[in-house]
Amino acid sequence: MIRKVTIRDVAAASGVSITAVSQILNGKGQRFSSETQEKVHHFQHKLGYVPDFSARHLIIKSTETIGVLTPDLANPFFSMFIKGVQQTACEENFIPLIFSANHDEHLETSYLQELIRRAVDGLIIASASITAQAIDQSLRRNGIPYILLDQNAVSDGDRVNVDDRHGGELAAQHLLSLGHTQIAVVVPEHATVNIINRLNGFIDWMKSTGHPFSDDWIVHTPMNKEGGYEAASQECVKRATAIFAINDEMAIGLYRGLRERGLRIPEDISVIGYDDIDWGNYVTPALTTIHQPVFEMGQAATQLLTQRIRADNRPFQTVRLPVRLVKRESTGMAR
Ligand code: RIB
Repeated sequence: MIRKVTIRDVAAASGVSITAVSQILNGKGQRFSSETQEKVHHFQHKLGYVPDFSARHLIIKSTETIGVLTPDLANPFFSMFIKGVQQTACEENFIPLIFSANHDEHLETSYLQELIRRAVDGLIIASASITAQAIDQSLRRNGIPYILLDQNAVSDGDRVNVDDRHGGELAAQHLLSLGHTQIAVVVPEHATVNIINRLNGFIDWMKSTGHPFSDDWIVHTPMNKEGGYEAASQECVKRATAIFAINDEMAIGLYRGLRERGLRIPEDISVIGYDDIDWGNYVTPALTTIHQPVFEMGQAATQLLTQRIRADNRPFQTVRLPVRLVKRESTGMAR
């Protein structure tokens, strides 16, 4: 049977004690000659010894891991978010444990418990289906710092804020500037706070510029491609000259639904999305959208969290990130 290489093997091969090997491999071997240090490193590589994670964890009292909970990694928005998390986590010497909960509350709760059980040093939670209260209860009780995105946290803490309200306003401004007033808005049934802000920004801008907006224009549908596809056959979409999809994934689903109904984008109907996922540039017509700096959001959340893990008494910080309109080809003058 193959046996795992242990610190004992490296010590025996190098002709030094286990303590000496442990200190040298943990960067605390200055009291040993450079010849001994080199010998230990040489045998570590030659034998392929990988230090035991649990032993190190016990010594440094940290797992050097952060948990990351996302609702859906199939959405490129969250994969880009994870890229930002990974880059900063790597620079800060933390390993992210990443979970995709498929918008499922039960799965999300069980991943949360699992991450606590595995003693992560902190957590980043994006667009949770479970409430901010439930998250706070589980994590604060266990003394685990966390960053919550897309929901209002129930207690003071570090924050990453993106101006969703302004994003909604930008979408309204753009469509109005093209002469659209009959605009359907496609949103999920159980919207998180950021989505509600987005929607309110849109509605308030319409109303403040003299364009009444009634709830009849709102289509509730799952926040994914299928949801967008299904929305295309809703009654209010048939009357609309433009659609504001609350995220790009839904907008891309709408493309197919509208096409099946014989509608051309933007000649017959304009579509604007939200997020600016990279697919937006590769669909035809290229998708007009509101850009969210999602890579930077991942970086900022990780930076704030790792700083908090290292110094839990530092003042709370808020990082604010801007949104902007990206005009492409899916919006045009109202017909
Ligand atoms: O596409 C995913 C959406 O969920 C994004 O708009 C993001 O802000 C999150 O709420």
